[in-house]
Amino acid sequence: LIKQLRAIVGDAHVLVDADLRAPYETDWTRRFHGPASCVVRPASTDEVAAVVRACAAAGAPMVVQGGNTGLVGGGVPGGGEVLVSLTRLTRLEPVDDVAAQVTAGAGVTLEKLHQHARAAGLDFGVDLAARSAATVGGLVATNAGGIRVLRYGSMRAQVTGLEAVLADGTIVSRLTGLAKDNTGYDLTHLLTGSEGTLAIITRVRLRLVPLLPARAVALVALADTDAALALLATARDGLPTLSAAEVFYADGLRLVREHAGLPAPFSEPYPVYVVLECAARTDPTDALLETLAASDAVVDATVASDATGRTRLWTFRETHTEAISAAGVPVKLDVCVPLRALPSLVRDLPATITAVSPAARPIVFGHLAEGNLHVNVLGAEDVSTEVTDAVLRLVAAHHGSVSSEHGIGRAKVAWLGLSRSPVEIATMRRIKDSLDPAGLLNPGVLLPSGSSGAAR
Ligand code: FAD
Ligand code: MLT
Ligand code: ZN
Repeated sequence: LIKQLRAIVGDAHVLVDADLRAPYETDWTRRFHGPASCVVRPASTDEVAAVVRACAAAGAPMVVQGGNTGLVGGGVPGGGEVLVSLTRLTRLEPVDDVAAQVTAGAGVTLEKLHQHARAAGLDFGVDLAARSAATVGGLVATNAGGIRVLRYGSMRAQVTGLEAVLADGTIVSRLTGLAKDNTGYDLTHLLTGSEGTLAIITRVRLRLVPLLPARAVALVALADTDAALALLATARDGLPTLSAAEVFYADGLRLVREHAGLPAPFSEPYPVYVVLECAARTDPTDALLETLAASDAVVDATVASDATGRTRLWTFRETHTEAISAAGVPVKLDVCVPLRALPSLVRDLPATITAVSPAARPIVFGHLAEGNLHVNVLGAEDVSTEVTDAVLRLVAAHHGSVSSEHGIGRAKVAWLGLSRSPVEIATMRRIKDSLDPAGLLNPGVLLPSGSSGAAR
């Protein structure tokens, strides 16, 4: 098989040596790792198809990897798979400025996609802190969310078509990006969010959004999560230019400030912080200031319109992931609850976690507008299953979802049933078994793999 793979992609792009494989075999959080039988780096859809055909003929399972910034262990080997890296599929076609769409290779990073769209006077709607490494293929496969879901939706809302290689090497392709196309099952959106278990995505047709140069960011201090929700309601109703609403708390800010050596944003610490961003063609600062002034939930606030000032305020929120991972290997639980339940979830979390492990230290932050909380627990590595179980059951009790944007990966397979019914899971298994009967694509990811390798 190695010889065949070398014949397809060239010797330089089949890595067998342990040192060469190593960077691909551990995930970003350092929680998940496993040996790959080799790493193969195809450069085109045709090469991906040939690689899959060779692996399928050899009965060799594959794990699909993009930028390896995933946070649920879905892009690293369970042990022994051929690791198919899509990072060489970096072709970016010219922006179609009539349709406001572009076709991007699966290995294009989010940052490069932003640059390409902005150079054409447009923008791309999804943004997240991993932009320098996260790839279009991974973003689609996990239906990533990020900080602009409030305005533009998740990745699924940006995808107008895609090309992918199925588990037998067949290429499905639909890249015209028609605005309306009711001709049978929507394979594009079936593969979006499939986490590498149904096909390998090689190219994606994406919608672009207007480039809004005038931006203003507010960092707002508040007394509690209820006040944060009150501010969100005021901002959502009063600011048509609102494009982001994020929340973090005092202990997360302390960790971020220690890690990044940042000065305090206010003269004293506050319990809760909200970042609001407005984006428009003309300066939205005054409207933002008026909205803050009208909200009695606001305890303190600072607003920036210039790029440097805006980045400085965003840094308090966007450095959370890095600061937490620098403090240890966190148990990361990306959950979503109905907005009304958010304050009680935030209140119930500490006791729920310390009941499992007194030493465990939860840091919570996330995307306020969607009720998406990132529960990162430090000091819980040896009780990660118990902590995960306690938190996800608490979320389910609040009628929430065990995964809001990161996907299920390997991390949450055992808890999928807290958010999906047995009928739904059985139906997903039937789809998986029909598209990947030998269970070769990402075994153990999203759905538990059975004895034959196919999902059971
Ligand atoms: P990988 O990690 O390589 O893979 C992720 C999953 O997708 C795996 O299951 C893999 O098998 C599959 N996959 C990858 N490429 C393909 C392909 N071409 N075809 C089929 N399957 C594929 N996520 C959010 O949603 N919102 C955030 O705000 C956010 N912020 C983050 C901040 C930081 C600092 C970090 C490190 C991560 C963050 N993430 C966030 C998580 C991560 O960036 C996303 O999950 C992203 O979509 C992963 O993209 P990737 O290219 O790194 O994929
Ligand atoms: C974020 O919003 O920063 C991410 O989803 C990353 C995380 O959960 O750490
Ligand atoms: Zn997030």
